Amino acid sequence: RKGLPLSGKKVLITAGPTQEAIDPVRFLGNRSTGTMGFELAKRAANLGAEVVLVAGPTSLKLENSQIELIRVTSAQEMYEACHAHYAKMDVAICAAAVADYRPKYVAQEKMKKKDGELSIELERTPDILFSLGQNKKKQFLVGFALETENELENAKGKLQRKNLDAIVLNSLKDSGAGFGGGTNKITFIDKNSEIKTFDVKEKSEVASDIWKEIISRIHA
Ligand code: C5P
Repeated sequence: RKGLPLSGKKVLITAGPTQEAIDPVRFLGNRSTGTMGFELAKRAANLGAEVVLVAGPTSLKLENSQIELIRVTSAQEMYEACHAHYAKMDVAICAAAVADYRPKYVAQEKMKKKDGELSIELERTPDILFSLGQNKKKQFLVGFALETENELENAKGKLQRKNLDAIVLNSLKDSGAGFGGGTNKITFIDKNSEIKTFDVKEKSEVASDIWKEIISRIHA
């Protein structure tokens, strides 16, 4: 495994959705499949990296035993798993669709239905990527952004606010981009505002493009 572009590098990747418990049988979640993060992890391993993949609930499996897969459920668990490994990492990519809110109180018993409406009070989850930016030492830190308006400006703002080295923008305006599907269309933006747009591609190919951009910057 020597002589590859990521030989000797440790890489942390988050993938998939998170599930935030409402009661023992219900949760708040989203439709992320985890595909983009899993493809990034597989590509990194093929490029020689030691990979830790922290994944929320997904049906995806890994054949590659080179990758250390840590399965988590909630944003809080994902946060803890990431911070347990972050200090020794060279690159971290947050590709997970982390829930922004969770129920403030988790019912200990299955909630019974009653007449009338029901409100569930929500509180913010920790922003994992932001916290990694706050604790950044040597790591090359990459986030994702899914924007529906002022995409470039919002993505650049996020890059700065979260202290990132680069951000990958998925545009919902582009057909074939983003959630659920097998393809994606991205724009890669680095902290010097160098911008590169790519065509719609299979997520495995998108992962390859993203790693090329990262490798050229960590070896520069
Ligand atoms: O702020 P926003 O949610 O748009 O940022 C998206 C980026 O932040 C993604 O890289 C996502 O994985 C990461 N994120 C996170 N923890 C959160 C929310 C977002 O790591 N609680």
